[in-house]
Amino acid sequence: MNARARGKFVTLEGVDGAGKSTHVAFLAERMRARGHPVVTTREPGGTPLGETLRGLLLAEPMDHETETLLMFAARREHVERVIGPALARGDWVLCDRYTDATWAYQGGGHGVDGSHIAALERWVHDACRPDLTILFDVPPSVSRERLERATANGRTLDKFEREGAAFTERVRATYLDRARAEPARFRVVDSTRPQEAVRADLARIVDAL
Ligand code: TYD
Repeated sequence: MNARARGKFVTLEGVDGAGKSTHVAFLAERMRARGHPVVTTREPGGTPLGETLRGLLLAEPMDHETETLLMFAARREHVERVIGPALARGDWVLCDRYTDATWAYQGGGHGVDGSHIAALERWVHDACRPDLTILFDVPPSVSRERLERATANGRTLDKFEREGAAFTERVRATYLDRARAEPARFRVVDSTRPQEAVRADLARIVDAL
């Protein structure tokens, strides 16, 4: 019997309120329709320990380096227990945020030194890097509008969502810089448009994989 080929690792990124989580189910369905078993997961989180760390990371104020280390601690569990095994058995993995988020939020947003993030990336998951990253791009004004609508509907904002426009702008700029530096891996989707238009782009991206 032939071993199945390693699955594809696809990550979703963007500032808060960019709308990426809205499209996870659509993307997973599209992949399944093309015959690929899909595991959907998220960061921080994706394992019992990772979800416990997520609760702390999204609520507790902490030193930015501590925050970076905890993100990577959660990620190590996730890679070892969920992402790595799924890819090895030939499943596709669709992950809502991954290490680009650490570069954008802890690096760009909070100013954590990139050499530390690069070292952690090599140590924690050198062999487990995304094949494709979809960046849902919106300006900070749209992000803010969407978060305000969410709070009006009764949702409480987490620690990162309460940061101001300057933070969001730095996060966005870091994402866009990374997309420019790695055009073969990134697909940038203008997420200010109506959902149907974004979905048409997503369908094309999945079908070309
Ligand atoms: P998010 O993915 O936006 O979840 P939801 O759609 O449920 O709000 O929330 C995760 C938050 O964690 C987001 O604000 C970005 C932040 N984050 C980091 O700061 N660094 C990281 O490495 C990761 C994975 C997430």
